[in-house]
Amino acid sequence: METALAKTPQQRQVIFLIILFLLCQSGSEAIRYSMPEETKTGYLVANLEKDLGLRVGELASREARIHLRGNKELLGLDAETGNLYLKEKLDREVLCGVTEPCVLHFQLILENPVQFFQTDLQLTDINDHSPEFPHREMLLTIPESAQPGTVIPLKAAQDSDMGSNAVQNYTVSPNLHFHVVTHSRADGRKYPELVLDRALDREEQPELTLILTAVDGGSPPRSGTTTVRIEVVDINDNAPQFVQLLYEVQVPENSPLGALVLTVSARDLDAGPYGNVAYSLFQGGGASQPLVIDKVTGEIRLSKELDFEVTNLYNIEIAATDGGGLSGKCTVAVQVLDVNDNAPELTISRLTSPIPENLPETVVAVFSVFDLDSGENGRMVCSIQNDLPFLLKPTFENYYTLMTEGPLDRESRTEYNITITVTDLGTPRLTTQHTINVEVSDVNDNAPAFTQTSYTLFVQENNSPALHIGTISATDSDSGSNAHITYSLLPIHDPQLALDSLISINADNGQLFALRALDYETLQTFEFRVEATDQGSPALSSQALVRVLVLDANDNAPFVLYPLQNASAPCTELLPRAAEPGYLVTKVVAVDRDSGQNAWLSFQLLKATEPGLFTLWAHNGEVRTARLLSERDAPKHRLLLLVKDNGDPQRSASVTLHVLVVDGFSQPYLPLPEVAQEPAEEDDVLTLYLVIALASVSSLFLLSVLLFVGMRLCRRTRAASLGGCSVPEGHFPGYLMDVSGAGTLSQSYRYEVCLTGDSRTTDLNLF
Ligand SMILES: *[C@@H]1O[C@H](CO)[C@@H](O)[C@H](O)[C@H]1NC(C)=O
Ligand SMILES: *[C@@H]1O[C@H](CO)[C@@H](O)[C@H](O)[C@H]1NC(C)=O
Ligand SMILES: *[C@@H]1O[C@H](CO)[C@@H](O)[C@H](O)[C@H]1NC(C)=O
Repeated sequence: METALAKTPQQRQVIFLIILFLLCQSGSEAIRYSMPEETKTGYLVANLEKDLGLRVGELASREARIHLRGNKELLGLDAETGNLYLKEKLDREVLCGVTEPCVLHFQLILENPVQFFQTDLQLTDINDHSPEFPHREMLLTIPESAQPGTVIPLKAAQDSDMGSNAVQNYTVSPNLHFHVVTHSRADGRKYPELVLDRALDREEQPELTLILTAVDGGSPPRSGTTTVRIEVVDINDNAPQFVQLLYEVQVPENSPLGALVLTVSARDLDAGPYGNVAYSLFQGGGASQPLVIDKVTGEIRLSKELDFEVTNLYNIEIAATDGGGLSGKCTVAVQVLDVNDNAPELTISRLTSPIPENLPETVVAVFSVFDLDSGENGRMVCSIQNDLPFLLKPTFENYYTLMTEGPLDRESRTEYNITITVTDLGTPRLTTQHTINVEVSDVNDNAPAFTQTSYTLFVQENNSPALHIGTISATDSDSGSNAHITYSLLPIHDPQLALDSLISINADNGQLFALRALDYETLQTFEFRVEATDQGSPALSSQALVRVLVLDANDNAPFVLYPLQNASAPCTELLPRAAEPGYLVTKVVAVDRDSGQNAWLSFQLLKATEPGLFTLWAHNGEVRTARLLSERDAPKHRLLLLVKDNGDPQRSASVTLHVLVVDGFSQPYLPLPEVAQEPAEEDDVLTLYLVIALASVSSLFLLSVLLFVGMRLCRRTRAASLGGCSVPEGHFPGYLMDVSGAGTLSQSYRYEVCLTGDSRTTDLNLF
């Protein structure tokens, strides 16, 4: 033993302890002190001197010292006083852990003689630790199908304190579903369990958070908490449910293909696949129904065109099915709205055309109108143009008759295009137009009308037979045979005129022909009436007057009246030898049966036995002496005169004039007044009357001449002012003489004769 003690300090210590132990076992009982842990430094644990029964100062003198296992300097000893005090704060949990009771064994060692005192210091637990959960948060997953009463184990909290200072009770924050039960283990430690009181519903609360509190039994108690997060695991406990059980929607019938009609929506409270719904058509509508539903979005769209007129309501059922096979249903009522997509239709059931004119109110057409749309879209208004003499009369339902307002006149309008306009009252308005053509048939209500009321035709005489001399024409405003005109001559009442042999008319075209040559000298003008008749029934006719003027042709040569040409003995003029120059030998008188220019005569001296002795006045046929007669001049003279007219071709006649020169032959040719002075006294009154008569006749004559000259002048100036209208009289050559064709001397000629002022018997004889 001694050798062993003399070895290393450690070895010595172990040996020392063993000795101590042996002493303790064998020696007096140990003194035990008790003290709470965590007492502060310097705490007086005990007075060993007193407790061990030692003398005062013995501890000091015997070099008392404290030995603690592990040589720890936890306690100090004041040797003078014997007080044992705490050198360090002692933590039971550090020194002993879970060992209970926690006792510190130390020895008081005295020298001289060596003496051991065993002393124990028991540390009592104080509640200086709080319960502590291993994690700040606990995650639990509990299916929502868990039944009430289900127990879910929870992790326990740790508390370093011992006994009642350890965890005593677990509590959970107030909630509707759980409570916590505290159980004791065999070693007295407490552990918590969660108990389900009420079934969970993920759809209501998918996650719960509880605060789990562990409370120890200290005074005051200490506690620790952890968060318990509970995830509720879904089960397919909810069927899809539509937001509405009945959807009602209105769709216009003209909606395009693919148009969105409605979006249905079903909700499934479950999560994940259990909550995913697929939409499908469940029932209804038949094969022709025009709606398709999108499986995912629930959008109902049009797959066919709608037609209100065919189906106006679709009732279909839509199902929504979730991933777990549960389904819900709803009804969709699609009402098709009428859109004004059908124009009115018009059917003519009767049409009369042509309609005769002059009829009173007549039904022209009967028609019906129809519109497939309904309501206002199907109500219709009918009209025709305003400016037509027709009326629309509604008969019954949608039937109308088209009538004339009154008699029509084909001559003013032969046909009417009547446009019937049918408009419905929808929005937008749709219109149908139908044009019917109504013809007006003719009635013979118009007589032929001549283009002129009278016609004047000019025909050159000596025409060739069957000469077309003119055309008359009439028109008829009717049509067809009612306007087919035939022309005819009306019989004439004048028995002198054989019209039928004179004139003929072409019944078809109104051309007039002269049947034979006309002679101006026998017939200068004639009149007759023509008639135009149409072929209507009854026929209508009208008349016109035709005046034919025969134009003169130069077909007659001048005819010499004086001197007589056919006399057996030639007529001889007497010329006194003493005649002054300009003595009027005679006057050649000629006529022309033609008229106008053809009867304007001029005279020409062709041949004379003594040229230069006689002059012939070209325009009046007066033969005068040109010079004094001499003794040398022959007593007999023969003059060849030519009388020409002014026609084309010119015609002429020749005259032979015999002049006998006589001596002293002036007395028988004395002027009349000298002869007239001879009658007896009783004839004076008669003579006076004659003179008065002559004077009045002369003055009247002068007045007439003046008037005539004035009128002539007037006409000439008017003709000149009119321009170009050549009046034949205006172009008279000065030397010409107008002689009427009737065989008598013309007026002008007579005037000229009278105006010569010569009162010789020759002139008077001429009258
Ligand atoms: C645990 O705490 C609850 C609530 O504070 C109490 O009702 C219960 O009696 C306590 N249990 C124990 C064993 O102390
Ligand atoms: C009526 O219509 C027809 C055919 O379109 C046409 O030839 C005719 O000229 C029209 N008549 C009137 C009076 O508009
Ligand atoms: C001469 O002609 C005229 C007129 O034609 C007639 O009147 C008369 O008798 C005729 N004289 C003779 C002798 O033929």
